[in-house]
Amino acid sequence: MSTQPKQVLLLGGTGRTGGRVLQQLLERGVSVRAIVRSPHKLPAAIARNRLLTVIESSVSELADEDLARYIDGCDAVISCLGHHTTNLSGIFGKPRDLVAEATARVCRAIETLRPEHPVKFVLMSSVSVNRPNRLDSRRGGLERAVLWTMRGVVPPAKDNQRAADFLCGRVGTNDRFVQWVAVRPDTLCDGEVCEYELHHGLVDGLFKPGKTYDFMRVRRYWIALSVLLAIGSLILLFYLEQVLL
Ligand SMILES: NC(=O)c1ccc[n+]([C@@H]2O[C@H](COP(=O)([O-])OP(=O)(O)OC[C@H]3O[C@@H](n4cnc5c(N)ncnc54)[C@H](OP(=O)(O)O)[C@@H]3O)[C@@H](O)[C@H]2O)c1
Repeated sequence: MSTQPKQVLLLGGTGRTGGRVLQQLLERGVSVRAIVRSPHKLPAAIARNRLLTVIESSVSELADEDLARYIDGCDAVISCLGHHTTNLSGIFGKPRDLVAEATARVCRAIETLRPEHPVKFVLMSSVSVNRPNRLDSRRGGLERAVLWTMRGVVPPAKDNQRAADFLCGRVGTNDRFVQWVAVRPDTLCDGEVCEYELHHGLVDGLFKPGKTYDFMRVRRYWIALSVLLAIGSLILLFYLEQVLL
């Protein structure tokens, strides 16, 4: 029996991962409703595809009943929402709870619809996200400490974690109406679709990445982050010294 969905609601279809998802769904003959706030970013051939219905709106501004209306009749909802992590206003600007808020609203909307068959919810998450109760047994203490710091300093990392926490804690694995999965890829590289494997849990660590990892880019990122943290700590120490002494 084919498990391919017939109708999907896609969030974030103009992004780096969402654009790929959109293209592949259409190539597989799946009808897609895409909620996008910048339809001009869709490639012309995609925008013209008869399987695609574009709903122009910011997810955050969409009323709950409209969101439920767009989900109604879909077998799956895919969220590739993300903060633009290539610029500082994307990382530190508002809304900081974009992914977590949309995740909670989608799940609640599905529950109000009480579908006969569970609706699948696929969340594009991140390798920085932890499973609760230390189920990511491959993660060592150092890695957990780095990620904990990162969630304190980098809002999108916290947002991704909150979205996954909502799914694990509030929806759980036995929900009648929502069947979810949080996909946690390493940094993805642009290029053609390549062979890939799916795993239930983490197989690679942050410091021993797998092959989808752009190691040099990430190493530079960690070096930059460490330098920023060190500078921040020095400024804080200097400030405390001035105030306290
Ligand atoms: N790219 C990677 O290498 C990678 C790797 C691992 C995990 N991830 C995770 O995958 C998720 C998506 O990442 P990405 O790189 O694909 O993100 P991205 O390229 O920045 O795209 C983000 C998408 O979200 C949309 N969006 C943001 N705010 C919105 C709003 N209020 N209403 C409607 N749409 C909104 C953007 O729309 P606009 O185009 O209008 O701005 C865009 O389509 C993130 O959670 C990220 O952590 C990404």
